[in-house]
Amino acid sequence: MSVPSSAGASAPAPATRDVPAAFLASAQRAGRDASAWTVADLERDTRWVTPLDDDDRAALVAGVRAGRVPDKPLLQYRAGDFPFGARVVARLRAAVHEAEHGRGIALVKGLPRAGVTAAEFELMTWAIGLHLGVARPQDKLTRYINAVKDVGVDYRSPTGRGYSSNAELDFHVDSGDVVLLSCYNQAPQGGDSLCSSGVSAWRQLVAERPDLARVLETESVPFSRQGEQSEGEPPYTMTTVFARTPTDVFCAWNRNRIHNGLKLPDAPACSDALREGVELLDQILRRPQFMYRMRLEPGDLQILSNFTTLHSRTAFADDPDESRKRTLFRLWLATPDGLALPPAWRDKWGAVEPGVVKGGMRGHHYDDACRAFERRQAEALGMRVD
Ligand SMILES: [Fe+2]
Repeated sequence: MSVPSSAGASAPAPATRDVPAAFLASAQRAGRDASAWTVADLERDTRWVTPLDDDDRAALVAGVRAGRVPDKPLLQYRAGDFPFGARVVARLRAAVHEAEHGRGIALVKGLPRAGVTAAEFELMTWAIGLHLGVARPQDKLTRYINAVKDVGVDYRSPTGRGYSSNAELDFHVDSGDVVLLSCYNQAPQGGDSLCSSGVSAWRQLVAERPDLARVLETESVPFSRQGEQSEGEPPYTMTTVFARTPTDVFCAWNRNRIHNGLKLPDAPACSDALREGVELLDQILRRPQFMYRMRLEPGDLQILSNFTTLHSRTAFADDPDESRKRTLFRLWLATPDGLALPPAWRDKWGAVEPGVVKGGMRGHHYDDACRAFERRQAEALGMRVD
């Protein structure tokens, strides 16, 4: 898989002036080829899709019903409470591996859905997460799993979160090594998932405007915390949009948070070049050859790398029946086999080494129960909590 190295006849001439030759030489081929996919690549080779069979579904349903205890707090469950069996767990692990070390995107199709309640489906998603990694908190309420459902939130407000709205979302990454999204109900109209490879976008940006690629790798930009910072935390985090290691290209992207971050009164000023780079990158991500559209169906489980694959979704119109409203469940996981992050990202992530629990948003209710859950879960998976 590869991305064209030239920008094409209609694109602007490469702005190579003032760009060091050493940067160009290393930047053009940066990242793993598998993760630099185009839409045509995903359509041609569908090994990133794992269809489950009836035995897998039976194992998942039996496992979740065996483990479920009414009113038991989620943080008190352990992987062993849900005996899914080695076969289906291995298939799920392989999908996570594809998301982390392959294309950056995986789709597991056919989780049990018929006759499964929303509560069982949510618990099944949680239990799958217990087998695969350490769940990370996601919001100011310190929730470790969230229903992605429209509850009328204004996504564009300074404190809006897209998962609680029905709006079209900007491209972004979540937190933790991977994000899992399981689909219980899909909307009758809209709500399509959009994915774009940050590695492909990087290579295209280097081909078209290496000067802006360099700016996005060297100048930090403020990402708004959308008002969900913990006490003592600033209302934004600072990081570069791109960073590299000898093997990987990492993309920290959230257009909505960057736009809001740039408006915060205390945020550091950004150069015009950085603003130009942000706009061009967003445009590249949406080009037809790079933006892959998929429609999650009930029972689908999407798994994405939060470092190499950017995601978004289209606006949707919900079913008026409450029980049929678009409902997905989202998990952010730190995984035992995550990528080694760029050293410069230590501040943002707390740790950069593989196998160390990182990512997440502690929010306002991070307490001893959270710490105990994370320690226990990390230990069970051979991971470390720093
Ligand atoms: Fe997201």
